[in-house]
Amino acid sequence: MTERPAVILDCDPGHDDTAAIVVAAQHTDLVGVTTVSGNAPLADVTRNALAITGLFGLDVPVHAGCDRPLVAPARHAAEVHGATGLGGTSLPEPTRRAGTAHAVEYLLEATRARPGCWLVPVGPLTNIALALRLDPGLLDRIAGISLMGGGATTGNVTATAEFNVWADPEAAAIVFEAGARVPLRMAGLDVTHQVRMHGEDGDRLRATGTARGAFLADVLAYYGRSGRGGDRAPAGSPMHDPLAVLAVTHPHRFTHERRPVHVELAGTTRGMTVVDTRPHAPTDAATCDVAEAVDADVLRRLILDTLLAACA
Ligand code: BDR
Ligand code: CA
Repeated sequence: MTERPAVILDCDPGHDDTAAIVVAAQHTDLVGVTTVSGNAPLADVTRNALAITGLFGLDVPVHAGCDRPLVAPARHAAEVHGATGLGGTSLPEPTRRAGTAHAVEYLLEATRARPGCWLVPVGPLTNIALALRLDPGLLDRIAGISLMGGGATTGNVTATAEFNVWADPEAAAIVFEAGARVPLRMAGLDVTHQVRMHGEDGDRLRATGTARGAFLADVLAYYGRSGRGGDRAPAGSPMHDPLAVLAVTHPHRFTHERRPVHVELAGTTRGMTVVDTRPHAPTDAATCDVAEAVDADVLRRLILDTLLAACA
């Protein structure tokens, strides 16, 4: 059996972050979970991470990180995830506690203790950027960074900006620069919008008759109804965040192209990831493996099977 990749998941749960935690627990050697202000304020997303890891019996450390972006004021996604990040669900108060170290300290320490981890950020990139600024040597201790964020052809908060990059573009710019030194994979909206869960998937989870299944069914039901497109959004819950995990564990299900990616920091395109898809784009600037196609149906079934297995 091939060894499972070691992963530290940096997240802001979040409905699709929940699926990412479960997928990471099943398919990786999940070393730790760090939280960041994003979909909801830091206290809420940290509570959610503790409650989710508790419900699924995951003995992984959870460390709370930055409570605001590097430069911009904190902005959240209540219209998508509810005010506390997990709208439509009712998880009991967690019995687990967050570690005492700040997530940024934890990232630096954990990668010293365990070189060769993948960092998988699926929220705003504040923690990762700050860790890189504090200790650029971090890049020598990790296998790579696989992030959910951006988009080559569309945004979701604005016409051109995706939420995780839009929420902290300065941090995103720092993280995209790291692609010059480590493998960097981007799962952006172009591919994550293709992998959606539907009502019947929620029914199957609920039919497990378990508390985990009922919770995941609630997650999918709420996430499928909410969202930035309102009635005009395509049906189903987009599985943005699990794709950043699966890009590490199942890379053969993705078509990655190495591209230059620039993060816009000003004006109406602030938070946009400008992906240079020209065949003659300068190759020395092409430092990000951008997911341009995915086996959407295979990945959708893989995520569902993984969630079902976690409910058994
Ligand atoms: C990203 O933003 C959040 O709302 C989701 O959790 C995901 O990480 C999608 O744009
Ligand atoms: Ca997220």
